[in-house]
Amino acid sequence: MTFDTTPLIIGHRGAAGLVPENTLESFQRAVALGVGAIELDIHACEGALVVIHDESLDRTTNGRGYVKDTRLADLRVLDAGNGSRIPLLAEVFEAIPGEVGINIELKGTGTAELLAQLLPSQPTRPILISSFNHTLLGDFQALNRRYPIAPLFGRWRADTIDRAIEYSSGFINLGRKLVTEERLDFIRSFGLRTLIYTVNDLEEAKRLFRQGVWGIFTDYPDQISSTTL
Ligand code: G3P
Ligand code: MG
Repeated sequence: MTFDTTPLIIGHRGAAGLVPENTLESFQRAVALGVGAIELDIHACEGALVVIHDESLDRTTNGRGYVKDTRLADLRVLDAGNGSRIPLLAEVFEAIPGEVGINIELKGTGTAELLAQLLPSQPTRPILISSFNHTLLGDFQALNRRYPIAPLFGRWRADTIDRAIEYSSGFINLGRKLVTEERLDFIRSFGLRTLIYTVNDLEEAKRLFRQGVWGIFTDYPDQISSTTL
């Protein structure tokens, strides 16, 4: 499993359509379904990296308030769905076989520094680092240039390719609504590989791969897989 093979299926927040997102069980389900890699989101909490999408606890747990304002001990007893806990990133590294690729998305302040400290524990695991916050990507690159970076874009702007080239190590990650043939051709002409989020329709996934997309993020790796494509 590596980010260097296409068509690449990435389990979005694990298998978020099947098991509560960003939990160990969700990542394990995605791996069992044969994804090429998993994607997860990280925030900092009292010097630890915790795996949760939102800056607030409200949507995905039985807690309330912001992750950054919560004591780590209090956050760790919350229910993130089906009785699962909010995992530490270090716990995901332990629970998921070392050959499984992990796309780590930096969501919050302080994540770049903590990740640069933690990643040496994973010397052989395929890792791809992403963020919509390109300043965080720059912070990470200033500390560690060993790992590939894939900047995320939720909107297409005149400087999208320039920004991608500034930060990217060969990948650009786009929202599915940004996809046009012209943009994909334009991106390819710069030698970048495109990863598209979040694709939950099999026919759309097939079309994207025909158009030359390198990989997709999906909540349903049971429906979109190497056997159904
Ligand atoms: O990295 C792809 C995707 O995870 C980006 O959006 O909001 O699901 O983190 P979001
Ligand atoms: Mg994400």
